[in-house]
Amino acid sequence: MERVLSGMRSTGKLHIGHLFGALSNYTKLQGQYDSYYFIADLHALTTDYDHTDEIKRNRIEVMLDWLASGIDPEKSTLFIQSKVPEHAYLTLLLSMIVPTPWVERNTTVKEMIRDLGLKENVSYGLLGYPILMTSDIIIYKADYVPVGKDQVHHLEIAREIVRRFNGLYGNLFPEPQPLLTEFPSLPGVDGRKMSKSLDNDIKIADTEEETTKKIMSAITDPAKIRLHDKGHPAICTIFKYHGVFNKEGVPEIKQNCESGQLGCVACKKQCAAKLNELLKGIREKRKSLESNEQEIIEIFEEGSRKAKKVASETLKEVLSMMKID
Ligand code: TRP
Repeated sequence: MERVLSGMRSTGKLHIGHLFGALSNYTKLQGQYDSYYFIADLHALTTDYDHTDEIKRNRIEVMLDWLASGIDPEKSTLFIQSKVPEHAYLTLLLSMIVPTPWVERNTTVKEMIRDLGLKENVSYGLLGYPILMTSDIIIYKADYVPVGKDQVHHLEIAREIVRRFNGLYGNLFPEPQPLLTEFPSLPGVDGRKMSKSLDNDIKIADTEEETTKKIMSAITDPAKIRLHDKGHPAICTIFKYHGVFNKEGVPEIKQNCESGQLGCVACKKQCAAKLNELLKGIREKRKSLESNEQEIIEIFEEGSRKAKKVASETLKEVLSMMKID
């Protein structure tokens, strides 16, 4: 069976962009592939190194969001990156063979630097982000990596590193291919990229009231000021939302918005109701999981032990091929 692997940084509760993008894909793939999903808490340190008191809590929040959205520990190996230190060892070894321009040119890291306003504040660890990510993937010899488009450049670097390693020491690793999710990335309520750090996201764990409030505050077509003004759905954030979680409503909304029959308030209410309905089951499940945190942590500890077995086998092979062991 071919193997998929993916990870998510644990920087807090997940939002609906994660749900309709990555998580729905994880749940779909877990029956078709030998699936490994992990919480990238070491990658969280690339930007959150100055408030590490939240790392453990954030890890648990991600676990709750994953399990509530249908990721099944019976079907997937679920684990925590820092519990498998072999990733870090392999990262060090790979860093020796990676020319610095490969990481310096990385567009995904450049985007992070821009979005987070980091400027000169870029650590060596952040620069090495794609090398750690490469280790995450290849230490399990994963064939496919389900990710969003923003991660594609990381994967190109991963494949380059694999080719270089295989060329230098022998054919050990498959070149990991991205599996792009079908949904375009969801914008945040302000129209920018949905992100916790931009404070424009709708969380899986939000209440129905919070969700409605956020949607009601969203920016729509600036030219549509009064109810009967004609709208331009193509540039409207709420219309993009309808396209993702209210597909059947789209033709009517488009027509009524463009003709000026449908006002933004009514359109947003419909959107919020639809989203709340879709999230109801997930939110209920999350609530019930919250009372069993210890059990949830155990699921990930167990998965980490299983992952560690695979990872340490690969690390042994690497050390022997590099003639260190
Ligand atoms: N960079 C990914 C993200 O921000 C998280 C990640 C870390 C990852 N290591 C990975 C994803 C390995 C896929 C495979 O979403």
